[in-house]
Amino acid sequence: MHKITRRQFLVTAAAGTASLSLFGIAPAWATTDTLPLVQHAIPRTGEKLPVIGLGTAGNLDGIRDPATKKRLIVVLQAFFDHGGRLIDSSPMYGDAESAIGELLNDVKNKDSLFAATKVWTYGREAGIKQMYQSFKRMGVEKMDLMQIHNLRDWQTHIATLREWKEQGKIGFLGITTSHGRDHAELERIMEAEELDFVQFSYSMGERAAEQRLLPLAAEKGIATLINRPFQRGELFMNVKGQPLPKWATEFDCHSWGQFFLKFVVSHPAVTCVIPRTSKLEHMVDNMEAGRGRLPDEATRVKMLSLLNSI
Ligand SMILES: NC(=O)c1ccc[n+]([C@@H]2O[C@H](COP(=O)([O-])OP(=O)(O)OC[C@H]3O[C@@H](n4cnc5c(N)ncnc54)[C@H](OP(=O)(O)O)[C@@H]3O)[C@@H](O)[C@H]2O)c1
Repeated sequence: MHKITRRQFLVTAAAGTASLSLFGIAPAWATTDTLPLVQHAIPRTGEKLPVIGLGTAGNLDGIRDPATKKRLIVVLQAFFDHGGRLIDSSPMYGDAESAIGELLNDVKNKDSLFAATKVWTYGREAGIKQMYQSFKRMGVEKMDLMQIHNLRDWQTHIATLREWKEQGKIGFLGITTSHGRDHAELERIMEAEELDFVQFSYSMGERAAEQRLLPLAAEKGIATLINRPFQRGELFMNVKGQPLPKWATEFDCHSWGQFFLKFVVSHPAVTCVIPRTSKLEHMVDNMEAGRGRLPDEATRVKMLSLLNSI
């Protein structure tokens, strides 16, 4: 494989499919980059977001090492070059917020960034301090989305988030959970409070959100951010060695990663999904899932029965 500079990357990314062979990436799925970007509206404002975002729980570690940093700049550049906007972080993810801020200094075409992070502590003053720290670490003057991580002390933080939204410090407010935890409590909060976003897990292997959370979000006009779309990579283990069905091309799907992501974003109540990756090849693969056709309801059923039969 050739060693390439960032400039070469930008030029080659613009040049499209043929250029990706420079990375040793098979061009089969890369051809979809010419297909239209799928964007979903945030119900409260109508602002459209590309359906594929980026999670940051662990994938941006190690940027003190110059070689790792260089590699991650290329990965993040690919996110923006392929139309990405929403990056989700948290003070819970070690140095992730600082890594985003530092890497963004070296990334071009990032003006469309939709910055999302979380408050993850107890108490009003501690929350305020932590959120100011997140702004500084991520290098943003306004946080597009601030979420309360894992419902922690949500009654306290939600008051601050309302004030900050009024003052224009944050664009939207939300709340998160994952792994199917606390659904009943989250449901009560969604009923009682005016939330802009909710974040929870939803994937082909973890579908509890279909029962109550997704329909309720649609009913209440709350945007949904989906975490763990690959169940932290576990879904790939389930299909290891299995060929992708030929009919996947009918909805512009060319890899198992795209199969899993297109299933998630084709749910009518899903706004955006935030897969995590530290690899260029996977980043491009994931971004391509946000282009072209999505499976319809009958195809979604077929996708599930295929996965169950493997
Ligand atoms: N409570 C919360 O608020 C909460 C909880 C959990 C997660 N989250 C958010 O959701 C994000 C995503 O969830 P997650 O990090 O648990 O895991 P995930 O996105 O479900 O899976 C990540 C795993 O999939 C692999 N992968 C990514 N793209 C791939 C591709 N195209 N082909 C093959 N493998 C691929 C990654 O490895 P490589 O690096 O090798 O690509 C990694 O091992 C988090 O980063 C975080 O931002 C929030």
